[in-house]
Amino acid sequence: GSTKKEGASVIFKLYCLAVLTVMAASYTVLMRYTRTVEGVRYYSTTTVFVTECAKMFFTLCILLKEHKGSIRKVSQELKGNIIGKPTEMLKMSVPSIVYAIQNNMTFIGLSNLDAATYQVTYQMKIPCTALLSVMMLGRSLGGMQWIAVFVLTGGVILVQGIGGEAVSHTSGTDGNYVVGLTALTIAVFCSGFAGVYFEKLLKGSDTSLWVRNVQMYSWGMLSAFMGVVMHDWQNVRENGFLYGYTPLVWLVVLLGSGGGIYTSIVVKYTDNIMKGFAAAAAIVLSTIASIMFMGLVVGWMFVLGASLVIAAIFMYGLPKTNTERLPTKKGGT
Ligand code: C5P
Repeated sequence: GSTKKEGASVIFKLYCLAVLTVMAASYTVLMRYTRTVEGVRYYSTTTVFVTECAKMFFTLCILLKEHKGSIRKVSQELKGNIIGKPTEMLKMSVPSIVYAIQNNMTFIGLSNLDAATYQVTYQMKIPCTALLSVMMLGRSLGGMQWIAVFVLTGGVILVQGIGGEAVSHTSGTDGNYVVGLTALTIAVFCSGFAGVYFEKLLKGSDTSLWVRNVQMYSWGMLSAFMGVVMHDWQNVRENGFLYGYTPLVWLVVLLGSGGGIYTSIVVKYTDNIMKGFAAAAAIVLSTIASIMFMGLVVGWMFVLGASLVIAAIFMYGLPKTNTERLPTKKGGT
């Protein structure tokens, strides 16, 4: 067995969180751009499917590297965990299908809302995730930590709301505001539920992250394909699966798949609530960097929002918590 010390270094965690945040931010901007720019429109359900395939490909590459290039060992491990553990495999279908719904809903949200409204609404996943972590993982948050969660949410909303365009109903395209908001509300709940459920399965067993991801993306490919069949089948048959795939759409796929992989790493080494705090901190830091190096001008809303985010981090008492294991009720090891 390995005698490696528990956990990863703080630097590694920060690095993962930073990469994730940069990817998520550029993903949102690019996805919005490719959905609203003039010209042929790709079918977003196909993009969700292609992204699942890309994640599966990356995960298999990582597994192959872990097994020093031995395809035989990788397939042995996968066989044991997929065919050999049908119940575990079946359990993974839950977060995977919910994520597939979420990923399709964010496309609908961004196609119908301006980026700022989208960002602000999507931040509701922070309290949603906290609530579900308490309910589903048996984590307990103190009163101060709960306040911190809401202060953080408010802070991020203020910071995001000023990001470039003001929060307004005018999306500049023929978007449908109600459809966009409804889709995004569904995405918020899916994000919280799937994230926490994935964390529960990952930390509740010894199965490795990468095997878990293979299980996850198998279902992901299947359910994303169902999405294509249900929503765009006729279009795909007429114009082809990759209709309208410009290089920028491929970049959306790349950022989406990279973001997914980093999400899984972040959830393994920290947790879903921490992911929210880190994302908020990174948004504030990147805005401050833009102020310092690119002469970005911000108003008092940013200053207030950023202060709230920083205050929330201290109120939550982040460094104190060990989040790499689930609290054991049985008083385990
Ligand atoms: O917005 P949120 O952080 O909830 O999005 C999480 C994203 O990470 C989803 O797009 C989901 O498909 C992806 N993910 C993944 N692999 C995991 C967990 C999440 O690709 N193991």
